[in-house]
Amino acid sequence: MSGSNDHIGEQARRYGTATIADAVARLREGGLVAVPTETVYGLAADSTNAAAVAEIYRAKGRPDFNPLIVHVPDLDAARKLGQFGDLANRFAEALWPGPLTLVVAKSENCPVAAAVTAGLDTIALRCPAHPVMRELLIESGLLLAAPSANRSGGISPTTAVHVKRSLGDGAPMILDGGPCEKGIESTIVAIGDGDYRILRPGPVTQAQLEEIAGKPPTIADTSKIEAPGQLASHYAPSKPLRLNARTVDVDEYHIGFGLVAGDCNLSPRSDLAEAASLLFAALHDGDESSKHKIAVAPVPDTGIGIALNDRLRRAATPE
Ligand code: TXA
Ligand code: MG
Repeated sequence: MSGSNDHIGEQARRYGTATIADAVARLREGGLVAVPTETVYGLAADSTNAAAVAEIYRAKGRPDFNPLIVHVPDLDAARKLGQFGDLANRFAEALWPGPLTLVVAKSENCPVAAAVTAGLDTIALRCPAHPVMRELLIESGLLLAAPSANRSGGISPTTAVHVKRSLGDGAPMILDGGPCEKGIESTIVAIGDGDYRILRPGPVTQAQLEEIAGKPPTIADTSKIEAPGQLASHYAPSKPLRLNARTVDVDEYHIGFGLVAGDCNLSPRSDLAEAASLLFAALHDGDESSKHKIAVAPVPDTGIGIALNDRLRRAATPE
């Protein structure tokens, strides 16, 4: 099936054999394609093509000091781009394909365009689990640079509609594979000399990492920005956002959790994974609502709730 999705416009095309072939052709010509992953939709391009990579930065309005994640079909492909020691191998073997990005030293003959790593001597690598992204990687044979498919600083997209809304008429072809299962961006782990640091909390929890590594992470130095994308204000909706709101004012759209009902509810049964999968959609809905502000109910700070609260704090209006 290759019909267009009328409610989104002709950029969004349902995933199928013909649309994958079209997407592969566009990528090989240096074009961009928005593609679902298990975390959020990505804006993909051939990471070895400098012009294509420049186009990603332009389409997102992304500052050029903020490097991109390169997506690979398997660990063998990753080893050609970065250096994998014992710890990196253990994480990759246990958690790939999946929502984990590893930052490792770049390999000597790393073929990716310089702009992908924004001048760093490290590279962020991820082997995604989503069948559409996997098919695109395998069919194209390309190593795909792909940031989240939103305008820089905006809310990450978890549906094709979000991508279109964020990138507007300039959006490239969007492979519509339905809503993303995890709904929150990958956990980013920087591999050091025998230690590791969590640069961005995500669906892979600290407890999972500790079990695999047999030790806790080194605490990241928060005074220095190690993942340049982790600027304090990020993922922001266009309206003021207030946290820990059990009750709301009349002009606030209330995002509930558990027993705090809200105008919508991230998870009436207080399931944090369910809440994470719906968070960005709820922020998008709040942005689209007739209310002038958004307020979010308290969410427990455990497990994947840590990633959820991290994104909420970055989205919130400073007090
Ligand atoms: O789940 C995800 O990771 C999604 C999907 C599409 O894979 N991608 C994603 O990409 O969230 P993006 O560009 O929105 O976030 C990537 C983050 C940025 O904060 C960037 O600064 C950081 O990864 N990053 C990339 N390369 C890095 C490096 N060499 N060292 C430290 N941080 C790096
Ligand atoms: Mg992003």
